[in-house]
Amino acid sequence: MRKKIIAGNWKMHLNASQASLLLHRLHERIKIHRDIEVVLAPSSLVLQPLSLQIDRRKFRLAAQNAYHKDQGAYTGEVSFTMLQDLVHYAIIGHSERRIHFNEDLETVRDKVSASVRNGITPILCVGEKENERKAGETKIVIHDQLVTAVSNLTAQEVSNMVIAYEPVWAISTFGGELAKPDVVAKELVYIRKQIADLYGEKVSKQVRVLYGGSVDDQIVSGYLDLPDCNGVLVGGASLNYHKFSGIVDKAYTLNKKDDS
Ligand code: PGA
Repeated sequence: MRKKIIAGNWKMHLNASQASLLLHRLHERIKIHRDIEVVLAPSSLVLQPLSLQIDRRKFRLAAQNAYHKDQGAYTGEVSFTMLQDLVHYAIIGHSERRIHFNEDLETVRDKVSASVRNGITPILCVGEKENERKAGETKIVIHDQLVTAVSNLTAQEVSNMVIAYEPVWAISTFGGELAKPDVVAKELVYIRKQIADLYGEKVSKQVRVLYGGSVDDQIVSGYLDLPDCNGVLVGGASLNYHKFSGIVDKAYTLNKKDDS
């Protein structure tokens, strides 16, 4: 069984000392879990100092974004090449990037390719907006986002990547309506089906699929219990060490139950 991922997206919060303090608190509370990867995505400014502080047996770092060119005259950008030694993962195509920074399907595809080219595992976010859901377009939106994003990857590269289903209407900052686990279950199955159609059953079983959208320690089990769910991507609750370490504990307890 592949390791479950519990990932915290700190968004544009926490300066270097605040981030260091949160990491310290998480380190005190979170134990080393063989079957769980705890991934932290701070701002890119903070990746360097945290990489020196972090206990690599417990945590992995992720970037929240990067630019798809490796180097050059692109004022203000940070490339995946520059992040190579700092992070294992990069969140790509988060709805806040798509909505606030106009990242289109092709931009996300180029970022996914750049990430893989530089040896960083993409956590590709897909998900429909409220109006798309109401118009019955959920599946077509997921299909277009997913198929375009992976179009330059080999089967092997897809089997190593991570896909996060994050319906925009369920993200706390965009409304935060709770998505019912049985609704989420259907979309996770659909995501695997798309991957199976493109790359075969084996790859579709190997790719890890996460859920994200207002997840906290109280409701996380409903998602982690789903057979197709390999973990969660957590925003707001990841800034609170009680809640985030509570989520990791829940994942650990569920894993132990599965093993016995
Ligand atoms: P949320 O954010 O948990 O605060 O809804 C999730 C995300 O944006 O990845």
